[in-house]
Formats: sequence, structure tokens, C-alpha cells
Amino acid sequence: MKAPLHPAFVSLILSLLAACGGGSSSGGGGSGDGIPPMFAGATAAFALSDASIEVSWAPAMDNVDPASALIYNVYASQISGAQDLMTPDLTSAAGSTTEIVTGLLPAANYFFIVRAMDTSGNEDTNLIEVSDTTFPDTTDPIWGGGTSAIATSLTEIDLTWNAATDNQAMQSQLVYNIYSATVSGGQNFLAPDFMTPPGILTHTFTGLTPDTDYFFVVRAQDPSGNEDTNLMEASARTFGIVSFATQVQPIFTINCVVCHGPPFPAQGQDLSNYTTIDSTAINVPANETMLTSMLDRIEPFDSTLSYLIHKIDGTHLDPAVQGSGLQMPRLRPPLPLADRDLIRAWINQGAQNN
Ligand code: HEC
Repeated sequence: MKAPLHPAFVSLILSLLAACGGGSSSGGGGSGDGIPPMFAGATAAFALSDASIEVSWAPAMDNVDPASALIYNVYASQISGAQDLMTPDLTSAAGSTTEIVTGLLPAANYFFIVRAMDTSGNEDTNLIEVSDTTFPDTTDPIWGGGTSAIATSLTEIDLTWNAATDNQAMQSQLVYNIYSATVSGGQNFLAPDFMTPPGILTHTFTGLTPDTDYFFVVRAQDPSGNEDTNLMEASARTFGIVSFATQVQPIFTINCVVCHGPPFPAQGQDLSNYTTIDSTAINVPANETMLTSMLDRIEPFDSTLSYLIHKIDGTHLDPAVQGSGLQMPRLRPPLPLADRDLIRAWINQGAQNN
């Protein structure tokens, strides 16, 4: 907290007033009073919360000003004797004998020096310290919500969530405990599966079992160990292993082979069986992409680099792809997303003949 008026500024105004003959100082008539108040210093410090301590004192006495005009500078430090006596942490209202210092850390010891100042800016020089310890922080962070789980492969799930907030800690100080289970509600909240570094809002679980549902709860924890208690689950299912023969080839046979099959497969790309797909699509450069993005028709393990996927998703004209022609199947409705995801997963799993 800052003083409303800097003491040096107050004293400048007063000396200007004195120079003009309008000063309030008495005795001797010069450029103001040079004698600081007589003050016995702080008498007590008393913690009020996990962030505030009340400091009090008995009124000082001044040779010129009434007690009601005196202000008090409060200097705080977590180390005894280490207060910065040039910069008060708080300046009291005139005549006050108690102030509450706020914005403190929890469960922390603080040392205070209080010095009285008169209206001419004269400050006493006592070094009397009082101290107390703020209460421990027992308030849980407030969960930020927004947990989402997305399977990215047979064995991986990406989790993201919103930042929590806390009464004491900054968001960058909060850590997150992640609890997982393969049945809804089955998490063991005594043992997190993962604790993030401070401030991190994502985590990728790896080494999971394919074709399995996972349920996650993410809870925020502050540096004092307080953890929120939300039970909101996010769930995702790891990819299963896609069978080319029973799941992928039928999609091609029904939707593509009429044009991409014998005797004259469009673009020389024959999708009628694994052997022809292997020789005309897998690791075969697409005709329609520009030189700068020479994509293969099917790039094993990477559907995003497979032009066939862009042709069935309709992203083949995107600047990153630079393809041409129409979305496939040509002049027909697009494939359902589930079919496209099956082909995508088959490619991401290596475009095997399984
Ligand atoms: C009605 C005929 C027809 C059907 C059905 C069809 N295609 Fe095509 N396909 C074409 C023609 C013609 C082209 C070239 C012109 C274009 O891209 O529009 C082409 C181009 C492509 C290309 C680009 C090849 C390259 O090297 O640039 C891919 C990949 C493709 N088709 C995949 C498919 C898939 C997968 C299906 C089934 C889901 C399918 N097509 C269904 C006629 C068809």
C-alpha cells in the first residue's frame, strides 16, 4: 500500500507555506518545525487471517501538531531488522493507532516497525519491532472446469482444462492432480496418477490400453496443499486396432472402386484390394498436390500427410495441402465421419494389411 502523499512532498508544501508567512508551525518563526514526534513505537501485531496482520501502537506526541494530525508509517519484513525504512508498506490515516497490513503470505512470520510523522514531515527513528505469523491457508482453489479428454492413438489421450483460481496463490503456482480410472467414478483420490508442474494446463497420458475407456478427474492444488474436490469427469476411449480387411476395404469397395478400380482406375489409383492399394497409393506421391506440399496418397503412420484423407475430408484445397479437383467420393455425398475416422486410424496405425 502506498502513502497518499509522499512525506517529502508534504514537507515541501509546509515549508513553502512557511516561507510565504502562512505556515502553521509555531515557535521561533523559521522555516518550520524540525522536531519529530515522541513515539514509543509499535506495541502489538495480531494476525487476522492467512493474509493480514493488524499492527497497533499508542499515540505519539508532537511539539506542534495535535495527536489527531500525526500519521504513522508501517514497515514490514519477513526477516527481523530487514525492513526497508525508506519505503513504508503502509501509511496510516491521521490520528490512527491501528492499521491492518494486507496481501501477506500464509503461515508466514512478519516483523513490523511503526514510526510517527508530524505534518512537517519529521519522522521518529525508533527500531521497535513487533511480529506475528499469518494463519495457514486452508482455502481450496476454485476449480476452473473445462476438462476435456481426446484420444489421439491406440495408447494416448490428451487432457486439457481451464486454470483454477485461488485466494492466495497465483495461477502460475497452482499444480493439478490427475486421477484416472477405467470405470466411471472409479478414481482413487488418495493417489493421483499424475501431478503437473505449476501452472501447466495439459497432460498427455501414454502407454494406455487400446480400445479402452478412460475417465479422468483433474483437481487443482495450491502451494499450501489445499486441493479442490470436484468430481467432474472427462472421458475418452483409446483407439482400437482397425482391421483393413473387415473395416477399411469395404468402405473403398462400396464408395471408390467404381472409379478407382479396373480396368482404368481414375488417376491410376486402384483401391480394389490391399495389393493394388500398396502399389498405387501407399507411399505413392499424389498427382494433384503442388510441388511445395508433395504429399503421398497414403503416408503410413501420418494421416495428416496423406492426400487421400484430405480428399475425403474436403481439406484438399487448403493452403497447406494445395491440392485440386473435387472432394471424394467424386460428385457424391461425403463419407460419414465414422468411416473417415476408420480410414484415418488405419493409416495412423501404419496402413497395414491386417
Ligand atoms: C465417380 C468417380 C469417383 C469416385 C466414386 C471416387 N473418385 Fe477419387 N477421383 C476421381 C477422379 C475423376 C479424380 C481426379 C479428379 C478430382 O480429383 O476431382 C479422383 C481423384 C482422387 C484422388 C487424388 C489422386 C491424386 O493422386 O491426386 C484421391 C486420393 C481419390 N480420388 C480418392 C478417392 C476415394 C478414397 C474415393 C472413395 C471414398 C474416391 N476417390 C471415389 C473419381 C472418383
